[in-house]
Formats: sequence, structure tokens, C-alpha cells
Amino acid sequence: MSHQIDLTFSDDPERFRRLGYLAVDLATDYLSHIRKQPVFHPMTPPERQELLEEKLTEEGIAPEELLADIRDHIFTHPMGNGHPRFFGWVNSPPASLGILADLLAATLNPSCAGGDHAAIYLEHCVVRWLMELLDFPSEHSTGLLVSGGSMASLTCLTAARYWVAKKEGWNIRKQGLNPQHPQLMLYTSQEGHSCIHKTVELLGLGSDAIHIVPTDNDFRINIQALREAIRADREAGRRPFCIVASAGTVNTGAIDPLNTLADICAEEDLWLHVDGAYGAVGKLDPAAAPLFAGLKRVHSLAIDPHKWLSVPVECGCALVYNKQLLRETFSLVPAYLQVEEGKGFAGLPWFSEYGFQQTRGFRALKLWIVLQSMGRQGLAQRISRHNTLAQHLASLIDTEPDFERVAPVSLSIVCFRYVPSQLHGNEPAIEQLNRAIVPAIQASGEAFLTGTELRDQFALRACILHDATTEADIAALIEIIRRIGETITRQA
Ligand SMILES: Cc1ncc(COP(=O)(O)O)c(C=O)c1O
Repeated sequence: MSHQIDLTFSDDPERFRRLGYLAVDLATDYLSHIRKQPVFHPMTPPERQELLEEKLTEEGIAPEELLADIRDHIFTHPMGNGHPRFFGWVNSPPASLGILADLLAATLNPSCAGGDHAAIYLEHCVVRWLMELLDFPSEHSTGLLVSGGSMASLTCLTAARYWVAKKEGWNIRKQGLNPQHPQLMLYTSQEGHSCIHKTVELLGLGSDAIHIVPTDNDFRINIQALREAIRADREAGRRPFCIVASAGTVNTGAIDPLNTLADICAEEDLWLHVDGAYGAVGKLDPAAAPLFAGLKRVHSLAIDPHKWLSVPVECGCALVYNKQLLRETFSLVPAYLQVEEGKGFAGLPWFSEYGFQQTRGFRALKLWIVLQSMGRQGLAQRISRHNTLAQHLASLIDTEPDFERVAPVSLSIVCFRYVPSQLHGNEPAIEQLNRAIVPAIQASGEAFLTGTELRDQFALRACILHDATTEADIAALIEIIRRIGETITRQA
């Protein structure tokens, strides 16, 4: 029998309602039982095969059956980031209201390229809120929601490349890059995120255009080395054009000295871009706010509400201080999209003139509901709580003789190593043990942790982003690592 249905359910809205209730039940059951589930549990080979090789049916499958399939085969193997003991990378749990907003955004399913409809005004509103929350100047600036932090930096740095070419008297959009132009140089620290490297490559500048600057003891960009790098590049005939600072590095949460960098950019005629994908909202914690001084002086800022703000993925945001410049960088309106300002569907200048995407999703709704449901105070308390939990983890590590912290804690990331007494001084063995702990803890399902390298030394890394994480979870993390570490050592 064919289950063919009208995909819009226009002939059976009550069935759609029942399916919606089933979906909400599924989401609620999943979220409310998450603590009882393993944080992560690896898929078996047959389970992987089943998903990889599923056949597309000829006649369709009843939606009720498909929802049951999702429950039994998809929800059984989550990534794990909804769990309060997930400390990996920078992947937050979804804000529950954000889940509902995604459903409602898809219900309207607008393109947020532009036009005179509610979604557009809401996006302008939430972008302004983000500017205000982070002290980014809002008067002549603009911003737009994008897929994530990488796309936000790509958008901002495309503007930076356009800006410098214009200053140097060439039109990058028309002429592109050519060998007669001086090599453009961009500066970022050793701790700069890989998306900056990918961006520079995508912009056609080549990875040689990145001058990687060493860091100081706190993993912040080394200012003296930066100044020397700029001087050396100028002497060699290159054109320094941009510093990319981190406001919360992915490894340790370090925040580069933004005011000093803004001074250097003013002196040297450089664009200052800040990658705040993970950490910019750390500014909402009054205890951390002074570290972000200078944020109002930057040319562009990448933020990522789908990280620390728990807006369901995907939701990044690019902010650029010069609205006109961003439009010049991206605007290309073919005849079929032309509207007359102030008439018909036109509305405000279109977002699609300020970024790469033409059809754009309604990301603003999930961001709007998260921000407005928390309010300024709620957001600040939440971020402060995560930072306090990170300090708590750091203090536990500092008091346990078999643990060693390897970086300062500025925000909600803690980097450390398990160093049992019998391995003291034996660096290769410590490294091997800590590397082995990561997959073992992930497979255990008891907690989820990832690792990284700091100055060529391997470190365990815990990032706290979940509102349900407690001090007991933090204490349990230490115990789990110790137990797993001891088991690995015994078996070695
Ligand atoms: C500091 C930093 N920048 C950029 C990114 C990339 O953001 P996205 O993964 O949203 O593209 C990340 C991701 O973790 C990050 O932590």
C-alpha cells in the first residue's frame, strides 16, 4: 500500500497536529531521561551499516513509523552534547525553547535574504542585541546571522580584504589578486582557530599570508613578537593588513589584549578582527568582563550563539563596524531579485547584499527566544556559573597531587593532565597515558572529554557549557579520569 501523502498536510491538519505531539513527546522523553543514559555510546558495526545502506522505498513509509524509526535508531545514538557530563570541544546542549523555535521557524520557512516580513526585522533586532551585549558599536555597523563561527570569520575577513585592496587602489572584486600587488599579511597567534587558516586559503591569499605569532605564558598573543613580525613584513615589501585576535581561544579560552591590539591596528593601519566564536559572550560575566576591554574598538567580530548561548546549531553571527563597506564587499543583485526601495516587498536593504548566501534560513527566531527568555541578567548568571564551575574544576586539579593544570582558566575551559606519582618526570609515558585516557573515557559513557596540544604537549581539555552540570559532576570527572587512568596504567 502506498503511504503517499501531501507533504504539506493541507488535507489533514489534525494528523499533522498528532504527529507534532508525537515529535514533542519524543524530544521531551529524550531530554528528560538524558542523565540516565551514557553520555556517548559507540555504534555497533551493524547499526552503522543499517543507516549507511538503508534503501529508499518506492511507496513511502507512514510518518508515524518514521518517527518511531527516529526514536529507535537515531535518538539511541546521539553525539552526547546534550548530557551534563559532556565536556568535549565547544558543543553545547540545545536550549529547549530553541528547539521549539526551530520548529516554528521551519513552519514559516521564509528566506531571510530580505523583504518586508517579520523574520527580517527580528534578525536586525537580535543582531543589535548582540552588539549591545558585547559593547560592539551599533551606530554605523551591521551584522548578519550565518552558519557558525567559521562562516562569520570568512564574512568579516572578506570585508577586510576588500578594505585593504580599496586602500591600496585596486578593486578586489573586479581584479582579484594578482602578483603585481604586494603580498597581503594577516597576523594571528599560535592559538588562533583553524577556521582563520581556512579562511585565508579560501580568500586566495595562500597560507604564506598568515604570520603565526607566538604566545605569552598565558597563551595570549605575544605583543612584542607581533610588532616585530609586522616590521619585518613591511621591510620585506609585504602589506600587513589584518590582525585576528582571539576572544576566547578554543584550546584554553585565552583572550588576547584587545586594547593593545586596537592601538597597534590604529598605528599600523590594520583591520582588527576578533574571533569570539567561543568566548565573546564570556564578557557577560562581570568577573571576566575587564578581559574584553577594547571590544568596542574592533573592525569586526565573529560570534557563535550556537556555542555558549545554547542556540541550536546552526547559528553564528558576523558583526562589521562599517555597514557600507560590507555591502560593497558582497552586493550583487541580479535583475530577478531587484526591488524598489520602499515599495512592495522591498523593506530594508537585503541581508543577501551583506554576505555570501542568497536564500537564508530564519535563524533569528531561535536566537531571539533564547535571549529574550533569559534576559540580560539570566544570560550573565548562566555564563558566570559556567566560569565558576571551571574555576572549581581548576581548584580541584590544583589540590589533587596526581593532576596537573597546564593553562590558566579565563573562562569555562580547563586544560590539565593526569600525572600519577609513578610517572613523574617520565614525559613520554605521561603523554601516552593522557592520550589513551581520551578515547577510553569517551567509550565509557561516564563522561566525555577531548584533548588538545599546548606548546607541543598533549593535554586533557574540559569545556563547561551545560546548565545542568553540577559540582558533583565536576568531582565525578576527576574520579572517572583517575579510575580510567589507573586501569590503563595497570594494563600497560
Ligand atoms: C575560537 C573558535 N573559533 C572558531 C570556531 C569555529 O566555529 P564553527 O565551528 O561554528 O564554525 C570555533 C569552534 O569551536 C572556536 O572555538
